[in-house]
Amino acid sequence: MKHTFDAIIVGSGGSGLYAALEVSARAKTAVLSKVYPVRSHTGAAQGGISAALGNVEEDDPRWHAFDTVKGGDYLVDQQAALLMADEAVQAVYDLENRGLPFNRTSDGRIDQRRFGGHTRNFGEAPVRRACYAADRTGHMILQTLYQQCIKNGVHFYDEYQVLDLVLKGNRCAGVVALQLSTGDIHLLESKSVLFATGGFGRMFKITSNAYANTGDGPAICARRGIPLQDMEFFQFHPTGIKGLGILISEAVRGEGGVLKNNRNERFMARFAPTLLDLAPRDMVSRAILTEIRAGAGIRGDRKIDDYVHLDATHLGRETLQSKLPDITDFCKTYLGIDPAENPIPVLPTAHYGMGGIPTDTHGRVVVDNKGTLIHGLYAVGECACVSVHGANRLGTNSLLDLVVFGRRAGRHMAEYVAGEEAETIPDDAADFAREQIARLTEKKEGLHGGHIMDDMRTTMMENIGIYRNATDMTRAVKEMTELREKYQMVRTQDRGRSFNTDLLELIELGNLLDLSLITAVSALNRQESRGAHSREDYPDRDDSIWLKHTLAYLDMNEVRLAYKDVDTSIWTPKPRQY
Ligand code: FUM
Repeated sequence: MKHTFDAIIVGSGGSGLYAALEVSARAKTAVLSKVYPVRSHTGAAQGGISAALGNVEEDDPRWHAFDTVKGGDYLVDQQAALLMADEAVQAVYDLENRGLPFNRTSDGRIDQRRFGGHTRNFGEAPVRRACYAADRTGHMILQTLYQQCIKNGVHFYDEYQVLDLVLKGNRCAGVVALQLSTGDIHLLESKSVLFATGGFGRMFKITSNAYANTGDGPAICARRGIPLQDMEFFQFHPTGIKGLGILISEAVRGEGGVLKNNRNERFMARFAPTLLDLAPRDMVSRAILTEIRAGAGIRGDRKIDDYVHLDATHLGRETLQSKLPDITDFCKTYLGIDPAENPIPVLPTAHYGMGGIPTDTHGRVVVDNKGTLIHGLYAVGECACVSVHGANRLGTNSLLDLVVFGRRAGRHMAEYVAGEEAETIPDDAADFAREQIARLTEKKEGLHGGHIMDDMRTTMMENIGIYRNATDMTRAVKEMTELREKYQMVRTQDRGRSFNTDLLELIELGNLLDLSLITAVSALNRQESRGAHSREDYPDRDDSIWLKHTLAYLDMNEVRLAYKDVDTSIWTPKPRQY
């Protein structure tokens, strides 16, 4: 089946919906998503969206941009960060005008809370910069944008899994997708395509990410010869529910919650004397692990189950209920504790990939270090790398990234398609995807994918985690290479066509395996410690060699690496102190 549009958005989270909203004002637009839009993972973003509104204390977009650059350990492209911080203010007011129910100050303005790494006057002290809707900010963004897209007449293909990208030379011509309810393959031809498929945290065993976060967009791009940028940088959020990884928002610490070890000590005072528990996430996650390794963790059932406490008891039931209602519920549901009475057992959880499909600040995909574009191809949000997060993202900057760059990309797409003639693509453009499905379904017999998935997630967690070294990462590269070979032998157990989740999981596994290999190779290659990439064998940041972005190309079974300059045109890189 073939469909024709001017613009196709793959993914219905915050960035996809914002782009769809903008482009649909001027062009025939479809959003294709493997989940119902309001179930997208943006809905799991809890604590807030940053913007220097200055509603509760003095603030400035330049301070915000500087914090973003410093938080990213100077691997951030600085003009992009400044642009994001500048446009943040209007972006938040636009969301407000579109109906987003932000929490309010007593005089009716958007309220703001503290979040890690956000400071006033270039690092002096924490600042209240995160605009929030209780601990459901992402959920509210989704609802707000979805209803506006419906109003604009966007065509939604819900529960369609993207399989492939169609390119004609250096132009993008459409995508191929699997309709989950029927098993039919659809060819969607379009003058432009935007990937907004979200993250790929499911490559790790313990993660805050939804099941759907399997990196479909980046994996498809990688197989089509597009490099992925800075994939070695993967953020562990300090406070996941111990053992489960479910997110306990940084907003708990923003509201005054404190991390404690087995001596009831506020240990962050030793690691970040100025920002304490609100230091950037890479530092807090390392501090937690360091405490546990030094025997200061709270003893779990077995030694590897040690954890730390996030103490919010002093905030009081009323604050918890009014500002952190979902967190309160999660603690009751998953831990059987009331956070007003007991500290929360937490451990770092794999949360956010800083790397992804390289783009410029219009969301256009850039395939090398010379700025070469694939015309009509865009990417935004976590699947992309416009390079505003560098080596470590600050909390609340992800929702901001979605909104600012989703909007910019949507506007650019609208202009682009207005100047382009429609081209038709032949039916055989879907052949590669058809063969891919046939390989997974039509063998006489084959391996079950479940064990491969388990092995991948355990290997990534144990070897490409918070602390890394050459021995572990070499093991991960070898394992991923072998698992990708085994993957060639998998076959679905379910032979049905309608909602074949077995097939869907195998497609997703293939995507995660490709991204895991790229991540492991990129990490092994970078011989320094920077942001979330912390090497025991190279403990220092080394700007003389490594102040550069990685570009990783997947050439069949090999990952080829190249580099790209970092824009340091505003602030000279300095050692980070908090
Ligand atoms: O902790 C949180 O609420 C997560 C926010 C983020 O990742 O930006």
